[in-house]
Amino acid sequence: MDTLDTAKENMISKGFLDVKTPEQLNYVEEIVKLKKEKNAVILAHYYQEEAIQDIADFVGDSLALAQEAAKTDADIIVFAGVHFMAETAKILNPKKKVLLPDLKAGCSLADSCPPADFKAFKEAHPDHKVVTYINCSAEIKTLSDVVCTSSNAIKIIESFPKEQKLIFAPDKNLGDYLNKQTGRDMLLWDGACMVHEAFSIEKLLDLHNEHPDAEIIAHPESPSHILKTASYIGSTAGLLAYAKKSEKNKFIVATEAGILHEMIKQVPEKTLIPAPAEEDNTCACSECAYMKLNTMKKLYTCMQYELPAIDVDEELAEKALLPIERMLSLS
Ligand code: 13P
Ligand code: SF4
Repeated sequence: MDTLDTAKENMISKGFLDVKTPEQLNYVEEIVKLKKEKNAVILAHYYQEEAIQDIADFVGDSLALAQEAAKTDADIIVFAGVHFMAETAKILNPKKKVLLPDLKAGCSLADSCPPADFKAFKEAHPDHKVVTYINCSAEIKTLSDVVCTSSNAIKIIESFPKEQKLIFAPDKNLGDYLNKQTGRDMLLWDGACMVHEAFSIEKLLDLHNEHPDAEIIAHPESPSHILKTASYIGSTAGLLAYAKKSEKNKFIVATEAGILHEMIKQVPEKTLIPAPAEEDNTCACSECAYMKLNTMKKLYTCMQYELPAIDVDEELAEKALLPIERMLSLS
């Protein structure tokens, strides 16, 4: 990024480059205008705030978003999600501009796997192949044989012969769930998502006692004591599809609460209750603070000034592309 871009980015983050005051702006109108003018596509994850999901061209889980990024013909990809998602989109589209409304939108799970430590772990197990969850940095992807998401992890793992020793990183909860599902004994990296780790089993069981007619459905990033209570375990897209097809009319949903927005749209007749988090006495839901860093105002300014843009070193991107492409071809 050149110095002019850096200066602009600083000014945007301080709010100095707003031509109109926030009150004067209709963000929805302005964003729609910018989308057309710049031939930009907005890809949003289900955990984004409601207004962002509503204005996006495509809303999906991590796999669907990567697939959409791989095939878009837009000139600019605006990624309303977190850094590893936008970085994956950039690796898939090195020539396109990929924007992330707030560069600080990281991920506790990706952060739990520092590349130098993971490289040493991998080197200590040279007979193992490496499967990594997409929630990791480009550096970790370069150390991987194949990437997966919670939608396709079982399929990806089963693409290896049974006797092949595997490392799974960075999510220990997803890894433990996958070991049980596939009968493997993958070595697990000790990482976790702070949102899914925060669900309280006591409060969840109390809530289920209050609503015995509800089914608990959970994302596999949740710890095993939460997953044991669930009638269905799946990715965000899987949870949506299950709520739609199940004959039950009430669900307690153990994943980030942003998913409820699309669920309510798809099954308005059903009752959806967010699973309770530990030490959460004000609200009954769990929110990802990183995902919620993106706002309509930041989405607008990032599209207006085409900043902040994701930058990935060319050599790093080339290496990280291989395990992502392997995943896409296996999905
Ligand atoms: P999926 O979108 O693959 O369900 O993953 C959830 C998540 O935690 C994304 O950060
Ligand atoms: Fe990362 Fe968890 Fe937030 Fe997803 S919900 S972005 S895994 S911290």
